[in-house]
Amino acid sequence: MWKRTMARQVLLFVYLLSLTSVRGQVSYSIPEEMPKGSLVGNIAQDLGLDFKRLKSGKARIYTGDSAEYISLDKERGVILIKERIDREALCGQTTPCALHFQVILENPMEFYSVTIEVTDINDNTPSFEKEEIRLKISESTITGVKFTLEPAVDLDVGINGIKSYTLLPTNHFILRYKHQPGGGHNVEMVLQKPLDREKEEYMSLMLTAVDGGDPQLVGNIKIHITVLDANDNAPVFHQSVYKANIRENVAKGFVVTTVSAVDSDEGSNSIIDYSIQNIQDNVRQVFEMNGDSGQVAVIGDIDYEKTRNYEIRVKASDRGGLTDSCKIIIDVIDENDNIPSISIMSKTSVIAEDSEPETVVTMINVQDPDSGENGKVKCFLSENIPFRLKSTTNNFFSLVTDSDLDREKDSGYNISVMCSDEGSPSLSSSVTLSLQISDVNDNAPVFERSSYEASLPENNTPGLSIFTVKARDADWNQNARVSYILQDSSVNGISVSSYVSVSADTGVIHAVRSFDYEQIKDFQFRVIAQDAGSPPLSSNVSVKILIQDQNDNSPQVLYPVQTGGSVVAEMVPRSAEVGYLVTKVVAVDVDSGQNAWLSYKLQKATDRALFEVGLQNGEIRTVRQVTDKDAVKQKLTVVVEDNGQPSRSATVNINVAVADSFPEVLSEYTDFTHEKDYNDNLTFYLVLALAVVSFLFIVSIIAILSVKCYRWRRERMFYKSGANLPVIPYYPPLYADVGGTGTLQHVYNYEVCRTTDSRKSDLKYARPSSESIISLDTSGTQTLTYAQREKVNGDISHDQVRVFL
Ligand SMILES: *[C@@H]1O[C@H](CO)[C@@H](O)[C@H](O)[C@H]1NC(C)=O
Ligand SMILES: *[C@@H]1O[C@H](CO)[C@@H](O)[C@H](O)[C@H]1NC(C)=O
Repeated sequence: MWKRTMARQVLLFVYLLSLTSVRGQVSYSIPEEMPKGSLVGNIAQDLGLDFKRLKSGKARIYTGDSAEYISLDKERGVILIKERIDREALCGQTTPCALHFQVILENPMEFYSVTIEVTDINDNTPSFEKEEIRLKISESTITGVKFTLEPAVDLDVGINGIKSYTLLPTNHFILRYKHQPGGGHNVEMVLQKPLDREKEEYMSLMLTAVDGGDPQLVGNIKIHITVLDANDNAPVFHQSVYKANIRENVAKGFVVTTVSAVDSDEGSNSIIDYSIQNIQDNVRQVFEMNGDSGQVAVIGDIDYEKTRNYEIRVKASDRGGLTDSCKIIIDVIDENDNIPSISIMSKTSVIAEDSEPETVVTMINVQDPDSGENGKVKCFLSENIPFRLKSTTNNFFSLVTDSDLDREKDSGYNISVMCSDEGSPSLSSSVTLSLQISDVNDNAPVFERSSYEASLPENNTPGLSIFTVKARDADWNQNARVSYILQDSSVNGISVSSYVSVSADTGVIHAVRSFDYEQIKDFQFRVIAQDAGSPPLSSNVSVKILIQDQNDNSPQVLYPVQTGGSVVAEMVPRSAEVGYLVTKVVAVDVDSGQNAWLSYKLQKATDRALFEVGLQNGEIRTVRQVTDKDAVKQKLTVVVEDNGQPSRSATVNINVAVADSFPEVLSEYTDFTHEKDYNDNLTFYLVLALAVVSFLFIVSIIAILSVKCYRWRRERMFYKSGANLPVIPYYPPLYADVGGTGTLQHVYNYEVCRTTDSRKSDLKYARPSSESIISLDTSGTQTLTYAQREKVNGDISHDQVRVFL
């Protein structure tokens, strides 16, 4: 703009020269930016013009089209600043910068050229086009790299233009600038020290441009540098070793621990991936690493008994492949998850009942894989059994007997062993041992009764079983098999084995022979019961056998004695009173009891009206007055019966002579004896008598010898058993047997004896048929019977009148 204006001024100047006369030329120099009205120059004086001319010539300034910076004061003849002049606006960078105008006068027309040079003053500060500069520089940039900066602009020229630059701070960068040949500058910033984003991510620098004016003016621009990340940092774990505890049997998914690493880099360079490095062990089967979060979770079974700790090696890597590693040490905490296991190392299933206390029955080993309290095991036995557990060494137990065993009480035991650990809650297990107690022959057979007594009727068949003894043995099997043995002893000098035998297996006692009550009434022996143990045990029992009487003996008439040839007659005087005791039949029965209870009856009589027989006592008495009509010879037959079943009897013939004198009797009896036979062949009788006498003589000799021999033997046989043989005078065998069992025996003994003494003592004693007799004192009875025995002898020998013919 101003250039075009210039061109016009020059053209105008040429034009004017051609038209008018150019009278002179003047130049001034003023600084720019002078205030309005400031004096530029005294033109009147400088052109040599007076004020009148100026007025008359209507002097004026001609600038052409250009702006009117200048005004002319005609009064004073000076040029003044009309508008402020900005050199930079007027000329830009062109130097020198001048204003050209003309002062034109009329009348005559003349003009004068005036040039005003405008000089620069430092009125512009250096300035940058932008407010700030933003740069992004990678931290990995090497030193020496240049960064071109936009230069500053200063409208002033010359010395007032830009003189230098500064860059602050200078930690990383230095500034280089140089003037370019065409004007302007080349400003560069050079990296001198490597950047580290991790230390300083943002930087702010100040670039300052300084001009050369006075005073100096400066312009600033801020340079914002963002340091771009490079993957120059490896991840770093917070801890090199992580420790964690987990309980065994923890649920899958349980997070054990979390590792974390940091990477100082940024963005993708700081993304860390975690992984487990273990290769050889089973860690990867048990633990899983979350690659993003670093959480270590359980995925397998944690068993303290298998693995007590784990060491996990963990790697952290960033995307750029930089890594770090750490260790996780995991200790497994024991849980009481194992029950004690009981194993039987050796065992006896049978033990003898005589085993000593402390005998080892079973050895037990108990294992609990848990640790600490969880693995401490105690064992117990079921109560109230004669066993106890002995702890030998750690976890080994022996089951021993605690006291004496008795198979007969308990033949076996189920021993329950319970073992429990001391964990909380405690776990336990148990095992049952069955133990048999084997038998030892420690029990002797025991008879069912302390003694046995049995009775047996006499005249038994040999081999008859009498009764059975029985013994029991508490032992078992062989030890309880009882056999019965007859203990050898002698009864009446004869071995008991010839009386009885015992069946070894059954204990049945058999009679070996037929017994005769009249010979043996009872006997005792012992039976031994012996078991089959080794050694055998035995016990014995006393057995008493009582022989029961049977009515196997007929009554024996002792008096009157029955003779073969001679006739004995009892004499009854004709003067005899009623009730005269003719004689007394004395009979005995060797049986006892009822079997020996005798009764007397008159069976036949010459005159039944004359005599009677005492039923009980056998006394023959007259029942009426004897008369002369009664025959001298009277014959009575008395039958003696015992009371046995069936009863046995004997008869006795009694001759009674009813006469006052002996000759009468004699004559009668002679007749009585011989009257029928007298006339028979006497010779025949004499020969017969001689033969009979000879025969009888020989028989007698033999008989006497036999009897002698027999008696001698019997005495030897029964020397202990007392007088059992009936002797005369006879008293009944059981008479002295005050300890006898049957009450009847006493009664009958008494009765028999009384009959001998009845004449005097008929009414002395009550008839012995009632219980009053049974209650008799035995010692009294004995005394009594002895007294009576004396009398038997006396009475018969003294009081009886006997006739022997
Ligand atoms: C032991 O146990 C067995 C089986 O349970 C049983 O038959 C037997 O009678 C028991 N023995 C004892 C002595 O309790
Ligand atoms: C019989 O038993 C008694 C004790 O009851 C004993 O003293 C005796 O020796 C036994 N006799 C025999 C032969 O065993």
